[in-house]
Amino acid sequence: MKLSKRLMAIARMVQKHSNHGELADIGSDHGYLPVWLVLNGVISSAIACEIADGPIQALKKTIQLSHTEDKISVKKGDGLQPIIGSQLDMITICGMGGNLICQILDRDLSKLAVSTLVLAPNVNEGMVREWLMQHGWQIVDETAVEDMHHYYEIIVAKPGCMALNAKEIYMGPVLLKEKPDVIFKKWKWQTGILEDILKTLNESNEKHKMIHLQHQWLKEEL
Ligand SMILES: C[S@@+](CC[C@H](N)C(=O)[O-])C[C@H]1O[C@@H](n2cnc3c(N)ncnc32)[C@H](O)[C@@H]1O
Repeated sequence: MKLSKRLMAIARMVQKHSNHGELADIGSDHGYLPVWLVLNGVISSAIACEIADGPIQALKKTIQLSHTEDKISVKKGDGLQPIIGSQLDMITICGMGGNLICQILDRDLSKLAVSTLVLAPNVNEGMVREWLMQHGWQIVDETAVEDMHHYYEIIVAKPGCMALNAKEIYMGPVLLKEKPDVIFKKWKWQTGILEDILKTLNESNEKHKMIHLQHQWLKEEL
């Protein structure tokens, strides 16, 4: 099984931080991530969770074709609901917006015992970092990947305290420190987007102030 660049980057982060226990993949869709992780011996077992019927069918097919039925169970439900009460090593929530990831965590994460979160929002990464900070989670690792002309950030968190400033929330505390090559490309691309937005906004506008500040943070790092 060959994963996309984005899913492979997520799988590598799971591999780096896994204790070889059970993982729950929320919004698993086709199930490529948990299947790859089981087939490659990164995790002992997985619960693949999905809310929608179409993906559940695809998920069951991937598991059947890969002969991983004994190690991966499929659960239908909203967010973390299907795994409440489970003792898990890791939870992955990937390929959704940061706001949906926060809603899912907000509703039920406190009802679970889990040692590591691997989160890969498509957008609004800052919202996820802020949620983690406000709910007793510490970011221990981050990376970024470019796949099919999109940039994705991957955030790994463990229970703990952290105090991030606004720039770290926006750009990522580990990404700011480690500065992997791809993040420069993302920041450069993002700078151009913010410049286009700024041209459309009046300087007295509150949104202009925020975007101007974000643009300044990006320029400081380029
Ligand atoms: C874009 S796919 C991402 C699939 C995979 N995680 C990845 O990163 O490639 C998002 C999946 O999340 C599922 N999803 C959306 N909201 C959900 C929720 N509240 N609970 C569980 N799954 C959800 C969707 O049905 C869809 O299959």
